[in-house]
Amino acid sequence: MSSLKTTYLGLELKNPLIIASSGLTSSVEKIAGLEKAGAAAVVVKSLFEEQINNEVGHLFDKNPQNNEYPEAEDYIRNYLRDNSVTGHLELVRATKKAVEIPVIASINCISSSEWVSFAREFEEAGADALELNIFYVPTDRNERPGMVEQLYLDILSKVKKEVKIPVSVKIGMYFTNIVAMADKLKANGASGIVLFNRFYEPDINLETLELTASEVFSSPADLHRSLRWIGLVSSFVPHLDIAGSTGIHNSDAVVKHLLAGSQAAQLCSAVYLNGPGEIVRILDGIREFMGKWNFETIGDFRGRLSYKNIPDPMMYERSQFMKYFSSKK
Ligand SMILES: Cc1cc2nc3c(=O)[nH]c(=O)nc-3n(C[C@H](O)[C@H](O)[C@H](O)COP(=O)(O)O)c2cc1C
Repeated sequence: MSSLKTTYLGLELKNPLIIASSGLTSSVEKIAGLEKAGAAAVVVKSLFEEQINNEVGHLFDKNPQNNEYPEAEDYIRNYLRDNSVTGHLELVRATKKAVEIPVIASINCISSSEWVSFAREFEEAGADALELNIFYVPTDRNERPGMVEQLYLDILSKVKKEVKIPVSVKIGMYFTNIVAMADKLKANGASGIVLFNRFYEPDINLETLELTASEVFSSPADLHRSLRWIGLVSSFVPHLDIAGSTGIHNSDAVVKHLLAGSQAAQLCSAVYLNGPGEIVRILDGIREFMGKWNFETIGDFRGRLSYKNIPDPMMYERSQFMKYFSSKK
């Protein structure tokens, strides 16, 4: 009987499937259902800086009287912020009591000041690890790329000073040198990296000529965005655990990520679209693959097709379609 056990951020996982931070992990009941279906860990829905600010903003817009009394404004701002935070901390605390699988807390942050003190509270609430979901959208043409990267490192290193639990960073793929960025995150205390987050992206409605939101869920083809970077980062940045994310819709996708060198796979869209039963199907598929190749443990094949382990690593560097088109003549 094959074993699907793996480790991620120093945590023992019964299999590589982690449910990604999202509405899927926003209540104890939902998380308990995911554990029952076979999930090995969950990342609780992020505490969003933006979310709290918006909550406060709407309240003031709706009742202009509130704006006339600065003390009331301060009180309400603090009250709302504390309650959002309290609610999130309570979710982590209650989830830890209700389930046996590791519970990873998540903070969405774009600054290295306000959020840092919250990190310790998540640790005190019992979180097994903390995932920093960082995505800063630069709009200032004078801001140098190094300053943007430094922001990520500052957030991480300040959070690391606050907590003892392992910290991972969930990033997008918009970096000039992802391997170097992963290496710097490791040097600043990250135990793991999530490659990659999928963001809320804009679209344009041509009927109304308005900016709208694009498709929220990923598709299976998105898997390939992460594959190259998992193969490279796992080869060049030792001792940094990798969780693949984006486009993991079936067991083949999980297996491909593991072969490229990840420790775990984060699922979101597939579970939203098909329900927690998808976890069972994916686990069955991983077992089937392992049986076919006589692999007894994940370690038997993890990283087998990473950059450093394949005879022609240039396959990972190839980025142009020239050869493809010349063969189509
Ligand atoms: C509805 C929805 C809500 C999400 N909320 C969060 C969140 O709170 N924090 C976060 O880090 N990522 C969030 N994400 C991103 C997912 O965790 C995941 O990284 C992304 O969807 C890519 O994985 P997938 O291809 O399996 O969907 C959300 C995604 C969706 C679709």
